[in-house]
Amino acid sequence: MGRYLVTGAAGFIGAKVAELLLAGGHAVVGADNLNDAYDVRLKEWRLAQLEGKPGFEFYRLDIVNQKELRELWESQAANRESSFDAVINLAARAGVRYSVENPWIYVETNTVGTLNLLEFCRQQGVPKFVLASSSSVYGRESRLPYREDQNTDQPVSPYAASKKAAETLCYTYHYLYGLDVTVFRYFTVYGPAGRPDMLPFRLVQWISEGRPVTIYGDGAQSRDFTFVDDIARGTIAGLTPLGYEIINLGGDHPAGLRDVIAQVETLVGRPARLEYHPAHPADVPATWADIGKAGRLLDWRPQTFLAEGLAALVHWYQENRAWAKDVATV
Ligand code: UGA
Repeated sequence: MGRYLVTGAAGFIGAKVAELLLAGGHAVVGADNLNDAYDVRLKEWRLAQLEGKPGFEFYRLDIVNQKELRELWESQAANRESSFDAVINLAARAGVRYSVENPWIYVETNTVGTLNLLEFCRQQGVPKFVLASSSSVYGRESRLPYREDQNTDQPVSPYAASKKAAETLCYTYHYLYGLDVTVFRYFTVYGPAGRPDMLPFRLVQWISEGRPVTIYGDGAQSRDFTFVDDIARGTIAGLTPLGYEIINLGGDHPAGLRDVIAQVETLVGRPARLEYHPAHPADVPATWADIGKAGRLLDWRPQTFLAEGLAALVHWYQENRAWAKDVATV
């Protein structure tokens, strides 16, 4: 059984990865700074699902803070002999649009934070590193479906640039120190207890509560939405030694915004009130993952269609509506 450091363990993807690892009998040290990038009640809810599970330990820390990472290591080393089998870095600032307003915090967490964890692996002899990257690195010029070997030199948001920089540092650490690295480019991940700054959570809350639905641009955008359980399963499959690989994880069934809205209207049983706002310059018009490489290297393919995944999100929302209806969506 393995021992894994999962950063961003209270985050949307991190909590699900931690849950699946624990269910598989592994030990998980979760780390998260529980920042207020979005409504912290969601993070507390996710963490509460993990706390008390056998094999789970939690540290509140910021990956940008090297001293806190050292303290984590010292307190781990004091209690056991074995190191971590891998560091899975799912701690991030992840909103595309907000990154235009405050690019510094993205570079800090996503780029410097990743560098700190790469150093942590080097110094502590951790053999494997997994990085959460993003479909947004493909920019506006890439051909659909996006393949991992396409050019990603023109990211259109500071967020995408910070992830591209993190990918590049991973390669450098692989080259210099032989660190085994899997970089995952996730495609618009959604599901129960998802991020409230993203479209799916917002649609479910706004339509359920009769609030207006903000649409950026004309709503003709499309996304290759990917269900969080599929993402977590793929991420864990990527713990196998691979050298250095970049791998897309996407649903492979892009959906237009209007289609997603119609599906949520049906599931919730209420009509949406649409409010159109100017298109955002950092928004890409469409995403679609070529998932051939994930199939070949990891035998991974998505198992959850959008209709099922949205139904699971709506179900979660209805069960948690007492507090989820007040979760801030900005
Ligand atoms: C999402 C995540 O936020 C990123 O962390 C992730 O890296 C990225 O997917 C990815 O696939 O790599 P984004 O595609 O912007 O980024 O996801 P949403 O915020 O859910 O937006 C999806 C689409 O809906 C965008 O075109 C956006 O303009 C639109 N949208 C979003 C609205 O029209 N209204 C909203 O209130 C929110």
